[in-house]
Amino acid sequence: MTKDLKTVILAAGKGTRMKSDIPKVLHEIFSKPILGRILDCAISSGSKENIVVIGHRADLVENYVTKNYSNEAFCVLQKEQLGTGHALKIASEKLKDYTGNILVLNGDIPLITPETLINFVKYHNENNADITVMSALFDNPFGYGRIVRDENDKIKAIVEEKDACVETKKIKEINSGVYCFNWKTVQQGVFELKNNNSQNEYYLTDLIKWGIDRSKKVCPYVLQSKEETFGINSKKQLAEVTKIMRMRKLDELMNSGVTIVDPDTTYISPETSIGADTVILPSVVIEGKNKIGKNCKIGPFSHLRGDCVIEDYVKIGNFVELKKAEVKSHTNICHLSYVGDAFVGENVNIGAGTITANYDSRTKTKSKTTIENNASIGSNVVLVAPVNLGEKSFIGAGSVITTDVEHNALAVTRSPKKEIKNYIK
Ligand code: UD1
Ligand code: MG
Repeated sequence: MTKDLKTVILAAGKGTRMKSDIPKVLHEIFSKPILGRILDCAISSGSKENIVVIGHRADLVENYVTKNYSNEAFCVLQKEQLGTGHALKIASEKLKDYTGNILVLNGDIPLITPETLINFVKYHNENNADITVMSALFDNPFGYGRIVRDENDKIKAIVEEKDACVETKKIKEINSGVYCFNWKTVQQGVFELKNNNSQNEYYLTDLIKWGIDRSKKVCPYVLQSKEETFGINSKKQLAEVTKIMRMRKLDELMNSGVTIVDPDTTYISPETSIGADTVILPSVVIEGKNKIGKNCKIGPFSHLRGDCVIEDYVKIGNFVELKKAEVKSHTNICHLSYVGDAFVGENVNIGAGTITANYDSRTKTKSKTTIENNASIGSNVVLVAPVNLGEKSFIGAGSVITTDVEHNALAVTRSPKKEIKNYIK
């Protein structure tokens, strides 16, 4: 039977092991906080109501959630971080009369995918389970809670690393921090959790033993693609997870016909789409959300900082930085340029070293540059925005352009050459 589904994301912890002033869930992977990645996943898996438990630097986390997910999620405050079980207890205040399923996700597992969550909840429903916990088999399970099973392979309990004896530490099946609860039958357990453990915390994981002791149906769900359950507790794990997410994206792009010459030095955000037969040369960094067309050539050493829409047959070359740039087809920006807050038409050539001066540091405002179709811009030009270059306009090398240029016109601000004869003598 399919039941209603709500999701609770536990995001109140400090993340002590990150050694950072920023709350753990706000650390970014490809310019998006870990929490955003988990919320996106929950939302894509069909969860309409998402409760985020916040605590450490709650102001920052709440600000992020309300700014980006006001329709899909809301926050509840766990004033003191007394453990993951206590965090769910705080969320349960918003779930008093609810009788559907609750999906609980630790806020630090951003590799989890919507497909996995959908299959997991389906499994929970098909088994008519009270509690389903997602586990995985790790070669190095250090730091994770271990799934302890009895002689019949039935789950008995979850034991945290810090509470585990030598034998338990040898267990390779770990708790992922993803759970589904039949809220009607399990809610009571959240209020009965105790904190008599090495960390004096109320462990959510103790609900497993609570359920078994009361003859509830507790099912482990072993996830084969174990990397989806990697948790981030340290900067090293943040880098490891970032690398996995990066390789996932590169695989997806290569499978869809994009040529990635050197995957080891290519960084492309999950939010970027690229058309077939575009070639990405080594040492390219593409952040944020971008759309790149077919048959383009990007790199080497190009940096796209987000909100770029690039049409087909465009060349973006060495040491070129783009931000909020719309570039139409067959345009070349091949060397040493910065193009930001700009519209660049079709078949435009931008010479080496050309810069859009888009930022006024006194007023802290950005202005737009528009370059119309077939314009040709010489090397080392500064386009001081706001400025508009008309169709087929021609800008001489070394010019500083501060006012609009009409179509078909030549604009050049270069000072005349001075030659002093026999100067060396
Ligand atoms: C937890 C699990 C462990 C599991 C691992 C998977 C418990 C007791 N342990 O350990 O079995 O293998 O995740 O990654 O649950 N949080 C709160 N409030 C709190 C404490 C934590 O909201 O009072 C949040 C954190 O922000 C974090 C999540 O809960 O997003 C998990 O907390 P964390 O401290 O990372 O737990 P682990 O030690 O990783
Ligand atoms: Mg963790």
